[in-house]
Amino acid sequence: MNEAIRPEPGQLLQAGAPLQLSVIVPTFNESGNVAVLVQRLGVALAGIAWEVIFVDDNSPDGTADVVRALSQRDPRVRCIRRIGRRGLSGACIEGMLASSAPCAAVIDGDLQHDETQLPKMLGLIESGAAELVIGSRYIDGGSADSFNSQRLGASKFATAVAQRVLRVKIADPMSGFFMIRRDRFEQLAPQLSIQGFKILLDVVATARGDLRITEVPYTFGSRLHGESKLDSMVALDFLGLVLAKLTNDVVSLRFLLFALVGSIGLCVHFAALYVALEVYLLPFAEAQACGALLAMTSNFLLNNFLTYRDQRLKGFGILRGLLLFYLVCSVGLLANVGVAFSVYDQEPIWWLAGAAGALMGVVWNYAMSGLFVWRKR
Ligand code: GDD
Ligand code: MN
Repeated sequence: MNEAIRPEPGQLLQAGAPLQLSVIVPTFNESGNVAVLVQRLGVALAGIAWEVIFVDDNSPDGTADVVRALSQRDPRVRCIRRIGRRGLSGACIEGMLASSAPCAAVIDGDLQHDETQLPKMLGLIESGAAELVIGSRYIDGGSADSFNSQRLGASKFATAVAQRVLRVKIADPMSGFFMIRRDRFEQLAPQLSIQGFKILLDVVATARGDLRITEVPYTFGSRLHGESKLDSMVALDFLGLVLAKLTNDVVSLRFLLFALVGSIGLCVHFAALYVALEVYLLPFAEAQACGALLAMTSNFLLNNFLTYRDQRLKGFGILRGLLLFYLVCSVGLLANVGVAFSVYDQEPIWWLAGAAGALMGVVWNYAMSGLFVWRKR
C-alpha cells in the first residue's frame, strides 16, 4: 500500500486517492437502517478512502431504491441488487468479489455491529499484523447482551461445535462482522458455500489454518429498525456447512435432505396404498397409482419447503414445478426399475437389487430436479 498517499485520520481525502476499504453490507428489508449506517460509516471512517457496497436481495421494502438515492448524493455508496436469490453468505461473497479495494469488511445493515471498530481492524491488516480480523463478542471486552437467552445458548452451542468438529480456534466463529485482505479472500472464494449464513466460519474452515487471524472485541447492539431474518432453519444451514466441510464437499446437505424427503415419500406411498386397498377397496393397479401420485406430490411440497427453501417456487411456478417433478420422477422410476432388474439378473439378491435401484432413482431425481424443477435463475 502506498504510504505516501494515505492521509492521516481526520485529514481530508484528495479526490482520486486509492481505495483502501470496501465495506460490504448484505441487506434484506433494511430500508429504515441504511441511511443511518452510511452516515455512521462516514464518521467512523474519516480520513480513510472507503466505499460501501450494499448487496440487496430485491427487498420488498425497497431497500435498493433507498441505497440508490443515497448513492446519487455520495458516490462512495454502491448497490448490487440480486433478483431471484436469497442468502446472507452468497450476498457477502458477491459483494466482496465486486470490490477492488485491498481490504473488504462485512457488516450487518441493522447497526448491531460496531462500525467504530473498522479503523482499528483496517490498521491491523494494513500493518501486516493480520490477514483476517474478526469482530468478536466472546473475548474480553466484547459482549452479546442484546441476545435473549435462547439465542445466546444456540450461538454458544454452534460455536462449541465449530471449535471441536471443524477445529476452528477462534472465540467467535459465528460472528457476522469481520475484515479480510481481499487477495486472500479471492483465493478462498471458489471453495466457499453460497448457501446459508455462516460466511466467516466457512472462510476460516476453508483456509485450514493458513490465515493469520486476530479478534477484536465489540458489543453486539440492538437492531435499529425491522426484524432479524435468521429463523430456526439456520440450524439446518449450520449443519449443512459442518457436513460439507467435514467431507470435503462430498456430501451436500441438499442431497441428504432430498433423500430424506424421498424416504418420507416411501412411507406416504405405503400408507396411501394401504388406505386405497383396505378402505376404498380399489383394484391394486389404481391403488398403486394413487400412492405414487400422493408420494410424488408430498415429496415435491416438502422439497419446495425444505430442500430448496432458498429457491422456493411460488404462485403459478408451483404448478409448473409440480408437473415437471412428476415427469422427472416417472423417468426416475423407470431408471430405478431398470437398474434393479439388471442387478437382480446378475445377482439374485432382492435387497441388493432393490437398494441399487432406489439409489439410482434418488440420484437421478436429485440431478434432474436441480436442472429442471428448482433450477438456478
Ligand atoms: N442480501 C441478503 N440476503 N441479506 C440478508 C439476508 C439475505 O437473504 N438475510 C439477512 N440479510 C442481512 C440483513 O438485512 C442484515 O443486514 C444482516 O444480513 C444480518 O441479518 P439479521 O437478520 O439482522 O441477522 P441477526 O442479527 O439475527 O444475526 C446476526 O448475528 C449473528 C450472530 O449471532 C448476523 O450478523 C449473523 O451473520 C451472525 O451470525
Ligand atoms: Mn441483526
